[in-house]
Amino acid sequence: MPTLNEVIRSTPKAELHIHVEGSLEPGMMFDLARRNGVSLPYRTVDEVRRAYSFNNLQEFLDLYYEGMNVLRTEEDYFALADAYLRRAAADNVVHVEMFFDPQAHTGRGVPLRTLMDGLDRAIARSRERGVSVSLILCFLRHLSEREAFETLEAAEPYRDRLLGVGLDSSEVGHPPSKFSRVFEAARDLGLRLVAHAGEEGPPEYVWEALDTLGVERIDHGNRALEDEALVARLRDDRIPLTVCPLSNLELRVVEDLKAHPIKRMLDLGLVATVNSDDPAYFGGYINENFRQVAEAVDLSTEDIETLARNSLAASFAT
Ligand code: HPA
Ligand code: ZN
Repeated sequence: MPTLNEVIRSTPKAELHIHVEGSLEPGMMFDLARRNGVSLPYRTVDEVRRAYSFNNLQEFLDLYYEGMNVLRTEEDYFALADAYLRRAAADNVVHVEMFFDPQAHTGRGVPLRTLMDGLDRAIARSRERGVSVSLILCFLRHLSEREAFETLEAAEPYRDRLLGVGLDSSEVGHPPSKFSRVFEAARDLGLRLVAHAGEEGPPEYVWEALDTLGVERIDHGNRALEDEALVARLRDDRIPLTVCPLSNLELRVVEDLKAHPIKRMLDLGLVATVNSDDPAYFGGYINENFRQVAEAVDLSTEDIETLARNSLAASFAT
């Protein structure tokens, strides 16, 4: 009988909730800061790691946007994505649908072309190694609808490099309905639709993501469990949830990994998946998320296989 860790390691899986900027490891942050002449508020890698202690989503986002300020050149974006994709392949990830936040780069003067070309080169390398990768452009929900429209328009020349659009950043106070017209325009371009909802925001935001944006997956979705009718909707329509256990722990969406709802989601018949979200900030890539949550809530071999199978079924790959 293989051990649970062997099953986790050897099972092919898709990663559907990974922000490429959230895979920026402190070591690379220092290298790029030096290369680009950017000053950092930290002197050592240890100091960075000590700073990564969060009470909520916003405290994380503040450091996440600050960290990515070291990314300037096409080579930087290539290095970032290439390192993540190699790391994912080592965890037996066979397919990735990767988020990126263009506004967090163009807003500080990096041309969209620079990041698109760097990411694209890393994606091509990954495909040559046998791991398929698609890109999902996320709108920053703390910015305006107009800025989201401008971002979509700027991305149109890259339409063929995009799988879909998503919605991330500060959730509470920025309901999905704020972006319903932008998502309608994205759908008209043939893009697939996902959105973060129910991480800190209430079940109502998950309803809105489904009914006003028309999303095909919910990123996180933890707070959907507070609403029985919503659980029935997600189950009956087989809307996948891209769940991120270590992120949930580090951002205090759950108090303790032992209280993580992943097992309950499976028992409710939901199409739950396990993902890393921002692995450089939350202490683990996808298999580490599987290992820690499996131990905390006592997942079985069958549960692991179900979660991995769900990730392949929930992907937009054919
Ligand atoms: N939630 C919202 N925005 C984000 C996240 C997240 O977990 N990670 C990166 N941007
Ligand atoms: Zn996320």
